[in-house]
Amino acid sequence: MIDDVIKIFRELDSKDLRILQGIEISMKHYEWVPVEELLKITRLPYSTLEFKIRALRKKKLVVVTGTPYEGYQIYFDAYDALALNTFVKRGTISAIGDEIGVGKESVVLEAVKESELGLGEPQGVIIKFHREGRTSFKNVKRVRSHLEDREHFSWIYAARLAAKREADVMRRLYPDVAVPRIIDNNRHALVMEVAEGDLLYRTRLEDPEWFLDHTISQLKKVYRKGIIHSDLSAYNIFVHDGGVQIIDWPQYVETDHPHADEFMERDVRNLLKYFGRKYDLVRDPAEVMISIKAPEES
Ligand SMILES: Nc1ncnc2c1ncn2[C@@H]1O[C@H](COP(=O)(O)OP(=O)(O)OP(=O)(O)O)[C@@H](O)[C@H]1O
Ligand SMILES: [Mg+2]
Repeated sequence: MIDDVIKIFRELDSKDLRILQGIEISMKHYEWVPVEELLKITRLPYSTLEFKIRALRKKKLVVVTGTPYEGYQIYFDAYDALALNTFVKRGTISAIGDEIGVGKESVVLEAVKESELGLGEPQGVIIKFHREGRTSFKNVKRVRSHLEDREHFSWIYAARLAAKREADVMRRLYPDVAVPRIIDNNRHALVMEVAEGDLLYRTRLEDPEWFLDHTISQLKKVYRKGIIHSDLSAYNIFVHDGGVQIIDWPQYVETDHPHADEFMERDVRNLLKYFGRKYDLVRDPAEVMISIKAPEES
């Protein structure tokens, strides 16, 4: 699916982008953006708009309704294209590569960023597009009741909010905690450094005990920042020779959250269960929790 987006993105001209952006902005106020509104916002002549919309519809970037009036909507593919366009304009990325992950709530691509001031080598980076709100509008609505009167806009809000939350917390953690550095955030998308090594679940560790201790020491640092990951698993931890990097943060909670301990316990149990099963390492979750929460020795 995202392959299409990349191909389509390359074919979009500035008028196409102006139209998509016009629909995006107007969707704050309309479930279906009326053609008159779009004419006003894009300042394109009707014939151009009509022609362009027809092509965008074919590419499935714009959805059209005829009732009760002619109106337009965009969905994730167009939103991806708008975020990509912003990243390219800002110089955050200069080329897009392969898709490397599709989760329930995200699509992740490889990309390239030119070096600052054109000095040095271009850098490989990761783009993560959030997809919250895609599967069930109702779910999103339940969580965020302030969106109730804007249900048609809720997927944009949900995905945008999740991306901003993730970017903000990763900026708060970096560099004290080993997380990929956030390079940019726009709409529902993040650009970040490529994590080193490979995911824990895909790796056979030679010294699992060292990695388990090291991961626990990272969790301690996370806790000192006032944060609990809340979705920790072997799928969200990268390992390399020198250590680990923890990814996938949008569901984090603050340590003063009323259920903070439960979230932390679940994280710790997940981690210990994994090391227990795969490497026969036995640790007491309660003790690990205590060590994570212990104040720093002076
Ligand atoms: N910084 C990164 N460097 C390298 N790979 C990454 C990075 N961030 C994400 N990925 C890849 O993309 C996948 C999905 O990313 P992430 O875990 O953040 O999203 P997610 O929505 O939780 O996906 P899932 O539902 O599969 O867990 C990861 O499992 C990993 O393979
Ligand atoms: Mg994940």
